[in-house]
Amino acid sequence: MQLVTNSSEMQSLSLSAKKAGKTIGFVPTMGYLHEGHLSLALAAKAENDLVVVSIFVNPTQFGPGEDFQKYPRDLQRDSVMAEQAGADVLFCPSVEDMYPEGFSTYVEETRLSNHLCGLSRPTHFRGVTTVVLKLFNIVLPDVAYFGQKDAQQALIIKRMARDLNLLVRIEVLPIVRENEGLAMSSRNSYLSPEQRRQATVLHEALMEANRLVDSGERESRRIKSKMREIIASAREARVDYISFVSRDTLEDIEELRGNILIALAVFIGETRLIDNLELDLPSGRE
Ligand code: PAJ
Repeated sequence: MQLVTNSSEMQSLSLSAKKAGKTIGFVPTMGYLHEGHLSLALAAKAENDLVVVSIFVNPTQFGPGEDFQKYPRDLQRDSVMAEQAGADVLFCPSVEDMYPEGFSTYVEETRLSNHLCGLSRPTHFRGVTTVVLKLFNIVLPDVAYFGQKDAQQALIIKRMARDLNLLVRIEVLPIVRENEGLAMSSRNSYLSPEQRRQATVLHEALMEANRLVDSGERESRRIKSKMREIIASAREARVDYISFVSRDTLEDIEELRGNILIALAVFIGETRLIDNLELDLPSGRE
């Protein structure tokens, strides 16, 4: 596995690979890799000639007072894991390389970004779309792999790719979970063992929602209140949002039908965690 820290060098490497007829699979990350990230790299390996994994803790997607400074970083550990998952290139640019002095151009998706996490993190998705487009222009992937864990992010990237005629195909892969159901996340490392136990309420609330829908419940209000009860059983939990939205528009829906996303963001102590569940329900009023 080759370590590349410079964006021009990365671009030349990708251009040569493309000239040689190789396909490039790309997995953008902020590092502190876990099995969720690795599942994306393994899929990239299975479907492409060259696999590029990037690690860049992107300052523009963190708001003031968020965890940019303390975000976990461990390049040595990440290198071993990325190589085991089949990465051929680990691209780790510096902040100065990605955002040179005088940087003043941003990419903004203006509709889906106004819902869910966009409400509590107003500049977050502008930072994500900007860095992802930059990374695409540097890595030149044929296919880029994203996790359903960040469902809104995946939808926004797909929208950007469509709206801006990008040549990259976006693949979205399922959420990888710990045994107890907690969705894997680099931010889980902030949790104490006791908080980690409490954090399973996110998944439990989603499972309860799933059960209620299975048993015929269609009123999001009633399901939400049951989910709140479950989350309230964790001492350090504070709900940021629990939302039932259409997967096409991310707009709230009261009565469940069609393709829906149940998404939630919950603080466990100081740590903000997200999780979600997709449901495909009959779309008519039968
Ligand atoms: P990061 O949080 O490191 O996640 C990188 C990719 O891994 C994202 O596509 C995310 O959805 C996926 N992922 C994270 N946890 C997962 C899990 N438990 N199961 C499956 N996939 C999982 O998302 C980002 O970084 C950044 O916003 C980025 C896209 C790199 C732009 O800076």
